[in-house]
Amino acid sequence: MPINVEDYYPRATFDKMKAFADQKETPFVVIDRQIISQAYDDLHAGFPFAKVYYAVKANPAVEIIDLLKDKGSNFDIASIYELDKVMGRGVGPERISYGNTIKKARDVRYFFEKGVRLFATDSEADLRNIAKAAPGSKVYVRILTEGSTSADWPLSRKFGCNLDMALDLLILAKQLGLVPYGLSFHVGSQQRDIDVWDAAIAKVKVIFERLKEEDGIELKMINLGGGFPANYITRTNSLETYAEEIIRFLKEDFGDELPEIILEPGRSLIANAGMLVSEVVLISRKSRTAVERWVYIDVGLFGGLIETLGEAIKFPIWTEKKGEMEEVVIAGPTCDSADIMYENHKYCLPLNLSSGDRLYWLSTGAYTTSYSAVEFNGFPPLKAYYL
Ligand SMILES: Cc1ncc(COP(=O)(O)O)c(C=O)c1O
Repeated sequence: MPINVEDYYPRATFDKMKAFADQKETPFVVIDRQIISQAYDDLHAGFPFAKVYYAVKANPAVEIIDLLKDKGSNFDIASIYELDKVMGRGVGPERISYGNTIKKARDVRYFFEKGVRLFATDSEADLRNIAKAAPGSKVYVRILTEGSTSADWPLSRKFGCNLDMALDLLILAKQLGLVPYGLSFHVGSQQRDIDVWDAAIAKVKVIFERLKEEDGIELKMINLGGGFPANYITRTNSLETYAEEIIRFLKEDFGDELPEIILEPGRSLIANAGMLVSEVVLISRKSRTAVERWVYIDVGLFGGLIETLGEAIKFPIWTEKKGEMEEVVIAGPTCDSADIMYENHKYCLPLNLSSGDRLYWLSTGAYTTSYSAVEFNGFPPLKAYYL
C-alpha cells in the first residue's frame, strides 16, 4: 500500500521538513518541535489532572528537554547521565523521578545528593539501597502487567514484581524509613490494547486497599507509565480514546477521588515529530530468477532503526518515486547480517526505485537517535536536526 504522508503529518509541516531535508546529506532525522508541543498539549487535554514525566530515553536532545521543560513537564530519568543532562538545562530535582529499577547504590546516592526524592523500585535489594543512599525518599513499586502480546515493544517481563512482592516491598519501605508513595506499571511500549490498563489499574486498586486495611499504609500515587501510541503502519486508537478509556477504568476503581496520577510518555510525545531520511545505496536480486529485490539503504538497525528488530515497529516508508510496486527486503549498510529491517513483513516499493533515491521513514522521532551505535562499521551516530 502506498503511504500517504498526510496520514502522518499536516501537509504544510511535511513540506517544511522535506524542503529542509532536501538540502542535507543522508542519513539523518529531522524533528519538528511544533508537533511535540501539540502532542504534549493533547496529552494534557486528555489527562488534565495528571503530571507528565517525559521519558527522556525516547529522545534526550536538549532541544526537546528545553521545549518540555518550558511547557511544565517533569522528567523520568534512567541514569546519572540523563540526570546531569536534564538538570544542566535548568530542571529542578523536584521535577525528576528516578524511574529505572536497575541502578547502582552509588547512583542512587548521586540522585539523592542532587536533590531527587522520588524513586522507582521492584526488588528488595534495590529498596534497601534506596533506604541507605536516599533516606526518607518517596518510593513507588513497579508491578508486572499483562500485555506483552499486544504491545509492539513489550517491556513488562524484565521490570516489575508481582502483587504479593509489591505489598512486601511497600511495607518494608515504611520499616526502612522511606515513604511508601505509590505504584507504577508499564503495559509495554506502543500498546495497542487499551484494556491492558484496566487489568493493571485493578491490580493497583487491590494493593492500595490491602495496604490501607491491613497495614495502615495509604498510598498516594499511581504512575500509569508510557505505552501510548505513535502513528505507525499498524493503526491504533486515537490518544483521545486512550485517555477516555483509561480515565473510565480509574474512576471505576477509585471513584472521583483519584490519587495523584503520573504519566511517563516517551514514544507518543516524540515519534510523530520525526522523519528519518535515508538514501538507497544498492538494489539487487539474489539470483537470475529471484522475484524479490533487496533494497540496501544508508541507515539500518545500528544507525537508529533498532526498533525494527524482529520487525517489531513497522515504520511507514515513503518515497517520491511512483509507479508499479513490488515486494522488497529492506536492509541496512553494515556488515552484520542482523542488519535487515524488513524481510517477513512485505513492504512494497516502486519498481523504478534506484540507487541514490531517498526513502523517508515517517514517525521516527522516538528511539532512533538515542539507540544509534557510535561507530559500528565506522558509521557515525545518526544526525538529527530540530526545526
Ligand atoms: C520506566 C519507563 N517509563 C516510560 C517509558 C516510555 O514508554 P513509551 O515510550 O512507551 O511511552 C519507558 C520506556 O522504555 C520506561 O522504561
